[in-house]
Amino acid sequence: MKRIAFVNEKGGTCKTTLAVNLAAHFARAGRRVLLVDLDTQGHAGKSLGIDAREARPNVYDWLLDPELPVDRVARPTAIEGLDLIPANKALAEFPLAVAYDRERALRLDRRLDEGQERWDYAFIDAPPSAGLLVTTAILAATDLVVPVATTYLALDGAAEIARTVAELHQEHGRDHPRISMVVPTLYRRTAIGNEVIRKLHAHFPDVVAQTVLSQSVHLDECQSYGETIFEYAPRSKGAAMMRAIGEELLARVEGVTRGVARSAHVHAPAQA
Ligand SMILES: Nc1ncnc2c1ncn2[C@@H]1O[C@H](COP(=O)(O)OP(=O)(O)OP(=O)(O)O)[C@@H](O)[C@H]1O
Ligand SMILES: [Mg+2]
Repeated sequence: MKRIAFVNEKGGTCKTTLAVNLAAHFARAGRRVLLVDLDTQGHAGKSLGIDAREARPNVYDWLLDPELPVDRVARPTAIEGLDLIPANKALAEFPLAVAYDRERALRLDRRLDEGQERWDYAFIDAPPSAGLLVTTAILAATDLVVPVATTYLALDGAAEIARTVAELHQEHGRDHPRISMVVPTLYRRTAIGNEVIRKLHAHFPDVVAQTVLSQSVHLDECQSYGETIFEYAPRSKGAAMMRAIGEELLARVEGVTRGVARSAHVHAPAQA
């Protein structure tokens, strides 16, 4: 099972939007996907029409209780092949509840071993800001997707993640996860937008997504309707962008390089 975490310590960079819609894309492509919400905001569930506020058992219960089987905490979604482990405010207690455990940051990594046979992929939606939950997400992952908003100061978040990953590799003596894709998001055709993309290519050669996620009203709206873009507006520009990014990610993580340019060429779609 490959495990893909969506991380950026900065808030509002489209982590959840990408985690949910790309998980749906993978499921539609026939992969069995488990989406793990690791954010107290519970937005991954909300985006799929699941109100996780009172959900029990949830990801917090699962990380705390080694006897709780994954089958009890993972629930089906409206999308065939996509299951969800929901999160809510209870998760805020996690750092305190596991303070005694020296290996606390590896709990998700170990628990996911249980899902090895049942799912092809685990997608992990990480919270904003640095801390135990983000470390937990990174250490559980084989691959990272780093969404970077194409705005002023946005590069700071991406550089921060690269540093954190390098430190964790050293601390835990491992060479994974790797940053498999950096996705420029919330793009508008402005001088700053283009400058950020240029810098991303310079900082992260080979891994910047060919398709940039432009501003899209449909992508913004679908979250509040509890639907992925593929149900909400399948023929929209937002759906086309998400499909293209999904295809690229699939090719990257499944090792198919044909059709995926290794160059730094960017196709920035027109504003949707
Ligand atoms: N392509 C887009 N165009 C316009 N708005 C978008 C787009 N993608 C996502 N949004 C909106 O931007 C906001 C932030 O997106 P999202 O929740 O995915 O970010 P996040 O990185 O998960 O945030 P957080 O750090 O709080 O977890 C949401 O309101 C979402 O609906
Ligand atoms: Mg989020």
